[in-house]
Amino acid sequence: MSTDFGTFPARRMRRMRKDSFSRRLMQEHQLSKSDLIYPIFILDQDSAKEEVQSMPGVCRYGMNELLQVCEECLQFGIPAIALFPVVEADKKSLDAAEAYNSDGLVPKAVRAVKERFPELGIITDIALDPYTSHGHDGLLDDNGYVLNDATVGVLKRQAACHAEAGCDIVAPSDMMDGRIGAIRQTLDDHAHINTKILSYAAKYSSVFYGPFRDAVASAKSLGGSNKHTYQMDPANSNEALAEVALDISEGADMIMVKPGLPYLDIIRRLKDHFQIPTMAYQVSGEYSMLKAAALQSWLDERSSVLEALLCFKRAGSDAILTYFALDAAKWLQEGH
Ligand code: PBG
Repeated sequence: MSTDFGTFPARRMRRMRKDSFSRRLMQEHQLSKSDLIYPIFILDQDSAKEEVQSMPGVCRYGMNELLQVCEECLQFGIPAIALFPVVEADKKSLDAAEAYNSDGLVPKAVRAVKERFPELGIITDIALDPYTSHGHDGLLDDNGYVLNDATVGVLKRQAACHAEAGCDIVAPSDMMDGRIGAIRQTLDDHAHINTKILSYAAKYSSVFYGPFRDAVASAKSLGGSNKHTYQMDPANSNEALAEVALDISEGADMIMVKPGLPYLDIIRRLKDHFQIPTMAYQVSGEYSMLKAAALQSWLDERSSVLEALLCFKRAGSDAILTYFALDAAKWLQEGH
């Protein structure tokens, strides 16, 4: 920007802010319904609706309710949903074999949604944490360390299984090394050349995932354990560039930054550097903070949520995964 910007009183910055029309004309960024992705928790039941205790307003849905929510998403112009399964305890194991069961909950839900609403984009999570008895995203060795290459072998089968069921985008959220290349190769080998990969490339080991782990009941499995040996340290930023460079070279179509709001600097750095489709995840803890304040009437829900989502756009996100997606789409439709 030019430094020869004039000085007061010739330059009055408030002049352009005075009227609504000029504020609108100089607005640099906008949030639209097309920017929203709705994460949905699903249960292996025909009909169910259970509220997640630490996420008021967010529910786990059975198949019928899932289809109703999908219909609403389409009605309000949301381009895609992201499915997160709540897997029953007796289906969890050390080898996470349920992750690639073609009759499992995720493939079943994908088929059901695609049959009814083929135009709605479906993203599935590629990671083993819903399926392991210990709640980690991969297979463990005898010392409790998450094995990289053996885990990638299972992730490939999981991705192929989801693609076979008809999902549009697989989203590896596990942070194993080399998994994007391996998954791309497997998808191509199975003729799924148009199945897209959204890589959770810059995924931090964050405490803000707490309510999500309640929602999918993996907190119990994890116990006091953490994910520091595979997810990134919140102190780091250069490391995110290396992660993203690798994932792009391995074939990622889109990259993701997660969590969102405390990591806007990462979104901006990545977008400036790579200029590829960049998504952000406003994670469960961010939802719960805003929701809790709104429920106390300490914040106005609609304005604070729309402001936070707009800030993701300003930082460089092309789309945002948010548990507020349906509410936000409705508010945007109503105009504000
Ligand atoms: C699991 C996964 C997590 C989230 C999305 N996929 C949790 C974790 O890594 O422990 C968190 C999403 C949220 O908090 O909303 N691979």
